[in-house]
Order: sequence, then structure tokens, then C-alpha cells
Amino acid sequence: MSHKIAILPGDGIGIEIVAEAVKVLEYLVANGIDLEMVEAPIGGAGYDAAGKPLPDETLELVKASDAILLGAVGGPQYESLPRELRPERGLLGLRSELGLFANLRPAILYPQLADASSLKAEVVSGLDIMIVRELTGGIYFGEPRGIRELENGEREGFNTLVYSEHEVDRICRVAFDIAMKRNKRLCSVDKANVLEVSELWREMAEKVAQDYPEVELSHMYVDNAAMQLVKWPKQFDVMVTKNMFGDILSDAAAMLTGSIGMLPSASLDANSKGMYEPIHGSAPDIAGKGVANPLATILSLAMMLRYSLDRADLAEEIDAAVGKVLDKGLRTPDIMAAGCKEVGTVEMGEAVLAELQ
Ligand code: IPM
Ligand code: MG
Repeated sequence: MSHKIAILPGDGIGIEIVAEAVKVLEYLVANGIDLEMVEAPIGGAGYDAAGKPLPDETLELVKASDAILLGAVGGPQYESLPRELRPERGLLGLRSELGLFANLRPAILYPQLADASSLKAEVVSGLDIMIVRELTGGIYFGEPRGIRELENGEREGFNTLVYSEHEVDRICRVAFDIAMKRNKRLCSVDKANVLEVSELWREMAEKVAQDYPEVELSHMYVDNAAMQLVKWPKQFDVMVTKNMFGDILSDAAAMLTGSIGMLPSASLDANSKGMYEPIHGSAPDIAGKGVANPLATILSLAMMLRYSLDRADLAEEIDAAVGKVLDKGLRTPDIMAAGCKEVGTVEMGEAVLAELQ
């Protein structure tokens, strides 16, 4: 069966790093995988091409695709645009239009990069956490929202943090399913000592837990979770949390691995259709210089093969190829260390390709 893959490079380094992942896809096609790739603009590129960050044609394409590979969005030239036209809106629009409610953000320490972490090697060695972030609800999308003028002339900004039972139920099920395939420990992160919405979240997590008797469920307040992540991160196996808490905790977890340029992510709907992207941003400061690390994007492609295309075998081959390239001491500047060989975006991408071949 042929799969249609939407390729959305976006802005900044998105263009360079996606080009390397596309080479890997082309290699798979040359070796008999039935894929069709179609490229479209998103984010600032969407605004430039069609006057909005999520152009209609791009939306049509992603709706008709089996999976999406996205680079990154955003850039300083778009920061003064009205909020609805900013690049980030394109990304949020994709998430909500496609119902990509489950965001999987693994934080894995590659043994070859242990020295890149800001924490001591003994604290992070062997680190392997999966953060499951709810992605289409909570304060990111809650209504009402806005900035309004009060009677005294002062303005106030407001957003709504809201979760319904079914939203909590489905994200918890995704997290429990993942925990079942790992070490069977799930930590649900909330702020149930203050927020009613977290009280309901905790109740629902307990309810879903009854269907997963083998998984050990624990609860943690988000402030403590942030502290525990930098204190002893290896206590975690799978974490599940609200949209905004997940945004914050996943950046912290990523940095534990010392290599934000290495971490992929998947955003899935109820049928495992997914969007795959590196967790880093568009890095305008280094865009166009050919030095960005393409590995997070290539590893995102591996996640696509695993979660949307049912080819875990190929995903493993790609993961292994990345490991071998690191073993050989090739490093882009973001992960460069003494005794290694510094390479650029294209050289790194081609090294992975060479390992696959
Ligand atoms: C992320 C990013 C996005 C988010 C931004 C770019 C809208 O920080 O994917 O973590 O806040 O979700
Ligand atoms: Mg973020």
C-alpha cells in the first residue's frame, strides 16, 4: 500500500535538516518502500507563499497524507506580525485541525554524548524517559481567551485552562499503552493541590489505571516534577501531563541529554496518523550556514516509520545508523566534543545514509 508523506520544511534550519531526512526517505523508496512525498509551506514560509502560516493547500495536503514530516517554524522577520499570522499559529493549527492530541517526546541520552549533559554523567547515564504531552487542549486552546479593556481603562489578558473527561481519558490511555511496552511505570504530573482541572485529571488517571493493573501509576505536582527531573531523572519511565506543563518539562528533559539537536518527537491522532518533528526550533541564528544537526529530524523519520507506517524494522535500522555515526566520532557543532570530528549538516546526513547502505 502506498503512503503519502507531507514534507513541511518550514523556516530557518528546518529547510536544511528536512533535506537530509528526505535523502533517507528517498533511499527507502529506492529500496522498495512505497512512498509518495509532497512538499508544502508552513509557518513563515506559508505566510510568504500564501499570506497565512497554515495555507489552505497545505492543510488539504496534510489531511490527505498518512504522515507529516515537519522541520521547524518561526523567525525574527515574522515576530511583529499580528498573532494570527505568526508562524507558531501554523503549527498550532496543524495540531488542532488534525486532532494530534498525543505528543510523544522521548528524552534519551546517547552513551556517546554523556559528557554533553550539564548534569553529572552518573545522574544521566542510561537516561530514557518518554514524556507524553497532551497537545490539543488545555490552556493553549481553551476559550474564552484574549486581552480586554476593563472599566477603569486598564487592560487584562486571560486564558482558560480546561480539560474534559474524554480528553484526559484518551491521553492517559496513550501513556499507559506506552508504559506497558516499557518499564510499566507512569507518573502523571499535575497541580492538583491548587487547580480543579488537575483534580479531575488525577481522578481520570486513576480511573484509566484500573484497565492497566500491571502499570504502577504515581502522581507528582508539576513544581516537584521539574525539581525531580534535574535531581534524579532516572526515577522516571513514562510521564503524562497537560499541554503547557508538557511544553515546559520536555524542554528541561531534553537538556538533560545535553543535545536538543538529537531529540525527535511524534504527535499522533486517534488512528496513529502523525506529525513528526525535531523538538528544537528554527534556530534563525545558524540558519543557512550548513551547521545545524539533522539527526533529530532523521530520528523523527524513524519515529514515523515506527508509529505511522508500521515499519519498526526500518526505524531500528535508522536508529542504529545514527548510533554508528556517533561511534565514529562525527559531531555537528551543537554536540561537538574533544577528540571528535566536526561536520556540517550535509556531511552528517550523508554519513547516516552511508551507514544505512
Ligand atoms: C513546542 C513549541 C511550541 C509549543 C511553540 C512553537 C508553539 O514550544 O512544540 O514545544 O509551545 O507547543
Ligand atoms: Mg516548547
